[in-house]
Amino acid sequence: MPEDITAELESEELVPPAEPKAAHQPLDKAIELQADLSAEISAIGEAYQRALKDGGQPEIQPRLDYPPYRSSILRHPTKSLQHADPETIELYSPAFGHQDVHALESDLTIQHNGEPLGERIIVSGKVLDGDGRPVAGQLVEIWQANSSGRYIHKRDQHPAPIDPNFTGIGRCITGPDGSYRFITIKPGAYPWKNHLNAWRPAHIHFSLFGTEFTQRIITQMYFPADQLFPLDPIYQTIVDQDARDRLVATYDHSLTEPEWALGYNWDIVLTGPKRTWTENEALGAEGDEE
Ligand SMILES: [Fe+2]
Repeated sequence: MPEDITAELESEELVPPAEPKAAHQPLDKAIELQADLSAEISAIGEAYQRALKDGGQPEIQPRLDYPPYRSSILRHPTKSLQHADPETIELYSPAFGHQDVHALESDLTIQHNGEPLGERIIVSGKVLDGDGRPVAGQLVEIWQANSSGRYIHKRDQHPAPIDPNFTGIGRCITGPDGSYRFITIKPGAYPWKNHLNAWRPAHIHFSLFGTEFTQRIITQMYFPADQLFPLDPIYQTIVDQDARDRLVATYDHSLTEPEWALGYNWDIVLTGPKRTWTENEALGAEGDEE
C-alpha cells in the first residue's frame, strides 16, 4: 500500500491539534453557529435559483469563492490557472505500473489481522468519458475515515476510536469496461472546525490518476439521503442540485451480496455536461486538500 497517499489526509477538514478537553465539551461559543451558516447557504441557493429563472446557465462546478466555507475564504484561487509543462512535471511526479497494483488492494477490510468494525459495503461503478465510453486502465485510489468517522492521521483529533484493523486506503485499476470495485467499511460522519457543530457528511475521497500526472483528478463520493447535505458548506459549494446529485452514490441491490455487504454504485464521468465534479480543475494544479 503506498504510504504517500496518507499525505492526502493533510486537510483542513481534519480537526487540528486542540487543547486537551473532555470529548463532550462544547467548543468556543464565539465560533459561528450552524444556523448562521445555513442562512448564508440558503441565501446563495435562492439567488442561484433566481438567476436560473432569469435565464442563467446551470453551474456544475463548485464556486471557488463560497463564503460559508470559511477556511477557504483566504486560500481559494483568485487568479487564472497556470498550465504546467507536462513533460517537466513527469520527471518529478510519481509513476506507477499496472503490475504494481495487486487485486487485493481494492479490499480495505483485509489489510490487518482482524476485521474492521462497521458496516461492510461494496462500492462499484465505471469511469466513463463524456460519451459514455469506458475509460480502462485507470488507477483509482480511495481514502476515507473509519466507521466512527476517524482518519488515521496525526491531525485528526476527533475523539472517536481508531480502528486497529482499518487504515482506510485502497486502490485498483479499472477494467476493460471502465469498472472499479472496492470492498470497504461505510465511513462515519466527522466534525470539523468550519463553525460550531460542523459535521461533514460521510464520504469517500477518490483520485483518478489519468495517463500522466497532470491529468490526476480528485473528488468525493457521498451516500444517499444524508441528513447533513444541507448543512455542509463543502457539499454546498456546488449550487446546482443535479451536479450535487452526481456526487452521491446509489444503493444498488444487485451489487449487494447476501450475508456479506451492501452495494453502492457510483459512476465517474470525466467530461461533458454530466461530468462529475473534480477538485483539480476547480482549484488548480496544486490541487485541494479537502
Ligand atoms: Fe474527508
